[in-house]
Amino acid sequence: MEVILTNDYEEMSKTAAGIIAAQIRKKPDSVIGLATGSTPLGTYKELIRMHREDGLDFSKVTTFNLDEYLGLSPSHDQSYNYFMWENLFKHININPENVHIPQGLVDDAEAFCEWYEERIKKAGGIDLQLLGIGSDGHIAFNEPGSSFGSRTRVKTLEEQTIKDNARFFKNEDEVPHFAITMGVGTILEARKILLIANGENKAPVCKAFIEGPITSQVTASALQLHPHAMVVLEEKAASMLERKKYYNWIRDNKHLVQKYLGR
Ligand code: F6R
Repeated sequence: MEVILTNDYEEMSKTAAGIIAAQIRKKPDSVIGLATGSTPLGTYKELIRMHREDGLDFSKVTTFNLDEYLGLSPSHDQSYNYFMWENLFKHININPENVHIPQGLVDDAEAFCEWYEERIKKAGGIDLQLLGIGSDGHIAFNEPGSSFGSRTRVKTLEEQTIKDNARFFKNEDEVPHFAITMGVGTILEARKILLIANGENKAPVCKAFIEGPITSQVTASALQLHPHAMVVLEEKAASMLERKKYYNWIRDNKHLVQKYLGR
């Protein structure tokens, strides 16, 4: 796992956007997995800036979002469909036909989840998957205990997640209890993974998933099994890490890393 420490939220966001932009420039028809929530807002802002000012071209890019609340229509202002169009898609030149976000209003959720997995396969798999992390260690909505082999499915949200996400709703009672989410197994199949995290409340879980044991109780720890996982942390989220000196040495000696590792 490559751990990249940054000084603040802006630097974290620009670093993450730079990694995504490099992927798109290298392969214009990249398949990118996307996340919602507060964490990637700065990354999306920077990608929009890069599109407007540097000509970053999304016209051939295909996207797959991680998850959606079950029961919310795409026009609901707390749905992840709405979030993605407001905060990214409507500001860039993506082809709407290439956008995939789980649907919260489906008659047969199980059939939809199978279809979603099929679509990812048909698109050639995900080249780069962006992730945030929940304070309970979840990636997408894979709550503690989710199998590392899990695929896209309906998942019950943890009490902590409902509490954390209540800030977006009028009150806690309005937060849906179920979501459609890519599984840990689905995520691990992405060729590259990029997890971003900021804020003091994420510090304990960042320490746990980066430097702690691999366990389904902290589903993000599954990233330790991935051959190309990058983690970009802002200072407060990184504050409890024990090997900060090592991660910083790598950052400060980029020329050597490039020379010996080719990246
Ligand atoms: C969102 C998602 C979630 C969030 C996580 C962190 O699509 O999959 O796993 O990334 O809950 O949310 P924020 O960024 O709001 O702290």
